[in-house]
Amino acid sequence: MSEKRSHFYVTTPIYYVNDQPHIGHAYTTILADVLANYHRLLDVPTHFLTGTDEHGQKVQQAADANGISPQEQCDQTVVRFEALWKRLEITNDDFIRTTEKRHTDVVQATLQELFDRDQIYRAEYAGWYCVGCERFYTEKDLNEGLCPECGRAVDSIVESNYFFRMSQYQDWLVEYIETHPEFIQPAFRANETLGFLKNQPLQDLCISRPKSRLAWGIELPFDRDFVTYVWFDALINYISAVGYRSDEGRFKDWWPCSCHLIGKDILTTHTVYWPTMLKAMGLEMPQSIFAHGWWLTGRTKMSKSLGNVVNPMEMIDRYGVDAFRYFLIAEMTLGQDASFTEEAFVKRYNSDLANDLGNVANRVLNMLSRYCDRRIPPAPTMAALEGEAAASEVLAAVEDAVAHSGDCIADMKLDGAVALIMTAVRSINVFLQERAPWGAAKEGRQADVEATLYVAADALQRCAALLHPIMPEKMVQLRAALGVNEVQPELEKIRCFGELESGVEIMQPDALFPRVEWKTVEKEVPVKKKKQEKAMEPKASEEGLVTFDQVMAVQLKTARIVEAEKIEGADKLLKLQVDLGSEKRQIVAGIALHYVPEALINQTVVVVVNLKPAKLRGVFSEGMLLAASSGDQLQLVSVGGDLPPGSAVK
Ligand code: ME8
Ligand code: MG
Repeated sequence: MSEKRSHFYVTTPIYYVNDQPHIGHAYTTILADVLANYHRLLDVPTHFLTGTDEHGQKVQQAADANGISPQEQCDQTVVRFEALWKRLEITNDDFIRTTEKRHTDVVQATLQELFDRDQIYRAEYAGWYCVGCERFYTEKDLNEGLCPECGRAVDSIVESNYFFRMSQYQDWLVEYIETHPEFIQPAFRANETLGFLKNQPLQDLCISRPKSRLAWGIELPFDRDFVTYVWFDALINYISAVGYRSDEGRFKDWWPCSCHLIGKDILTTHTVYWPTMLKAMGLEMPQSIFAHGWWLTGRTKMSKSLGNVVNPMEMIDRYGVDAFRYFLIAEMTLGQDASFTEEAFVKRYNSDLANDLGNVANRVLNMLSRYCDRRIPPAPTMAALEGEAAASEVLAAVEDAVAHSGDCIADMKLDGAVALIMTAVRSINVFLQERAPWGAAKEGRQADVEATLYVAADALQRCAALLHPIMPEKMVQLRAALGVNEVQPELEKIRCFGELESGVEIMQPDALFPRVEWKTVEKEVPVKKKKQEKAMEPKASEEGLVTFDQVMAVQLKTARIVEAEKIEGADKLLKLQVDLGSEKRQIVAGIALHYVPEALINQTVVVVVNLKPAKLRGVFSEGMLLAASSGDQLQLVSVGGDLPPGSAVK
């Protein structure tokens, strides 16, 4: 493993051009963009690559169905990807198409070299082939005679082909994965690959297709009757795009890649084929391959006939690109599946963006207009702020976010970074509430008003800089409104309190995130559909067993109960405020017959944190406590020791 590099090279999969882009493609690309933007904020030289996978049977078939040539199919579809990336404010440094000469040349040169070194040989092949997945299978790979990946029918084929000696790298790869824990992430995906590698002999990889069967591909340089298997071609994009075999200086600058982002659907190709290909070429391994989970409504469950389609484009039209990006990043715990519903979207939009961030921005800007003559007031000295509990809390929360959001990003805990920053944002609101500058203004205490508003405005612009990687457009607007005109914020400039320049004139933009009425949206979700949605939820299999992913989908954390009270008119319910470390939540629990509220304070309990919020007897509840019960006895599940609140329970 190479030492930690002072650069960041991030890639997305290159997407097939057989169909238009959808929310899954948008997600991986936004994720890569956010990671790239964070590294730019940290002033780390960054290279962000995305592109399109244009060869192979899928593209050929789509072209045939559309009555156009494969190249026309590529040219027409690639513009849809490019347009979407523009719309989503994606800042890729390069876009590679596998039909470009800079790529095909490298693929051919690589093939020739491997052929000359006897890493590629010709042989007769008999087996099964799945057109959809473009993969060969042996008899025992099949799942009841069907493709083990997609479940579709497979074709039996016998043909002469070229093979890459992948099998000889099996032991090396197992050892490499076992000794490089960051290589495949999250760790449970590394185990999946190891399971695959340890349970069967690794086969050599068929890397050719006879032109008689499929002509759309890169011709083998040593046999013109064949084209290259699309995956062998596609994976090479990660190196051809950064100068492999064409610009060795540039290649040295960027390779090895810091992070290949992929969805879990393409784990094997990236964690088995690609490393063995690189090894054969004598190249370094990428530092990490990170497989995220799936957006469920966006793909597996999205179905027009069920009427539960969520169109990402519609969401962007309605709520804006920034809110869309924010939702995707904040909602998905990286590695796990997540469900995309408009209901969850609106809820998060209103609570985080309209209520917390939008509200504090509007308040600060309004009050600066009203009380400070539309200017940033003089900065109070640190000495003046010392002993001011509320101000110290704001400063500490912002400093915490500045200091630790980077660690979260490095650990690929983007939802954690968002939580830290939003805690700082909320602390500004609390600070304003406590200091009540409007009251001080009435009493003519102008110095107090100015000190308060300076602290709030300075904290706000620092939070906006930290949120810039996720919401570039709105955060540039917000910072510009506060007099900071920077297209690319720098972490160095927001490390300390007091960077905001006094005397600068502010602007009053329209509300950043106008609140969305929940009721209008509710009307659009007919009850019938809700039932259907329920029917679509992942089901346990017939034997009553659930998959690992289904278990991992339930997020449990420890929480400290901070407040507890009875709910009037509901004798079984208690209303609790719990501390989850990064946030506070209200949870309604049916435990009033078993616990007196006072006895619960400071208990550490276990909470399901990703339960859909609900109203119980009209009281909002965001989560569920775990409890054991037998007959009419009930005991909350609690955790001893002194783990901090918010610790994951697994
Ligand atoms: O596989 N949720 O391209 P592809 C989350 N060309 N992410 C999703 C998703 C979902 N429901 N659906 C798709 C290919 N994705 C090859 C890759 S790379 C050398 C070649 C995202 O168009 C996710 O990143 O089928 C997934 O891995 C990728 O799109 C597959 O895109
Ligand atoms: Mg796919």
